[in-house]
Amino acid sequence: MIPSVLPTYSRAPLHFVKGEGSWLIEEDGRRFLDLGSGIAVNVLGHAHPALVAALTGQANALWHVSNLYEIPQQQALADKLVAASFADTVFFTNSGTEACELAVKMARKYWYEKGHPEKTGIIAFNGSFHGRSSAGIAAAGSEKMVKGFGPILPGFTHVDWGDHDGLEAAIDDTTGAILIEPIQGEGGIRPLPDQCLRGLRALCDERGLLLILDEVQCGMGRTGKLFAHEWAGVTPDIMMVAKGIGGGFPLGAVLATEEAASGMTVGTHGSTYGGNPLACAVGNAVMDHVTDPDFLETVNRNAGLLRQKLEGLVAAHPEVFEGVRGTGLMIGLKVRVAPADLVRAGYDALVITVPAADNVVRLLPALNITGDEIAEAVNRLDAAATALKGA
Ligand SMILES: Cc1ncc(COP(=O)(O)O)c(C=O)c1O
Repeated sequence: MIPSVLPTYSRAPLHFVKGEGSWLIEEDGRRFLDLGSGIAVNVLGHAHPALVAALTGQANALWHVSNLYEIPQQQALADKLVAASFADTVFFTNSGTEACELAVKMARKYWYEKGHPEKTGIIAFNGSFHGRSSAGIAAAGSEKMVKGFGPILPGFTHVDWGDHDGLEAAIDDTTGAILIEPIQGEGGIRPLPDQCLRGLRALCDERGLLLILDEVQCGMGRTGKLFAHEWAGVTPDIMMVAKGIGGGFPLGAVLATEEAASGMTVGTHGSTYGGNPLACAVGNAVMDHVTDPDFLETVNRNAGLLRQKLEGLVAAHPEVFEGVRGTGLMIGLKVRVAPADLVRAGYDALVITVPAADNVVRLLPALNITGDEIAEAVNRLDAAATALKGA
């Protein structure tokens, strides 16, 4: 008999009942150090007092109004995102994959309005992940994502990560945009080198293409800058954001330049919930914290500390670990065992990690994790690795 919850996930038998900062408390009282953050979502940890205050304050005043009306919390959050980024304008969604839908629509509408309706093509990358909607799976393109779900949204071409010649060759007169994650998350924490992102920007400028960045996982302070592309010193035309922007409340956004967004006029897109008062009240509180230079400074300091300790962990367990990679607090442990085995051993050692492709286990802690918690987390990972070796 089919379970009452549609069985699309293979779930661990863990029932968390409470969260406090970087800690998750199981029904039976066990305290887990959370290095997953709901897959890069809880950027300020669990139950951060400022987010609880923002949410409950708004909940007592007004939960929802339609986008048929002006929403001051949404306006404030859009103003903050515009002030802190390349963007001139923002549309709010409830998730990353909805942001992908709009990014694709926006790019196509741009070219349509410019008199190039043929430029519907979007070049994306093998190993990428852009969500589970029709545009999201078409953009990822892997068999695992699309098999059985045809007909797949047309117009996507896929190039191998790092294949510069293949990328140049894939561009033709129907190409309108390039879509890429500055750091592949699900694909196994594969950072695009800064010079490659600069090269992509130059290529887009040269060939007249829009550059769409998917910062759903790597954005919102995770790499030690508000957005990961800032490290390369170049900006996109369109960017998808989600996960961390709501700190645990469902919220996403598409940020764009005025030019890239020029086709999106009244009536061309909408959302019942996107940018509602409750979500944006929380989003504003997240933004206020994450854009504080002291906060980002601490993220960078913590990232350095975690990286240093993980290098030691990898050196101590060469049978289990092959290496460590990533940027800031978006870290991948390349493992020689099945990633799921290390994640499971982590559960036994009371530390939460997340598997990814390419034999990687992801560490995506809360950005305000403390130095002591980092030390304890690595001790627990050490215990997990030791247990795996003994198994
Ligand atoms: C890079 C990236 N893009 C898009 C998505 C889809 O986001 P959501 O699950 O909120 O639809 C994800 C989710 O993991 C992601 O990591």
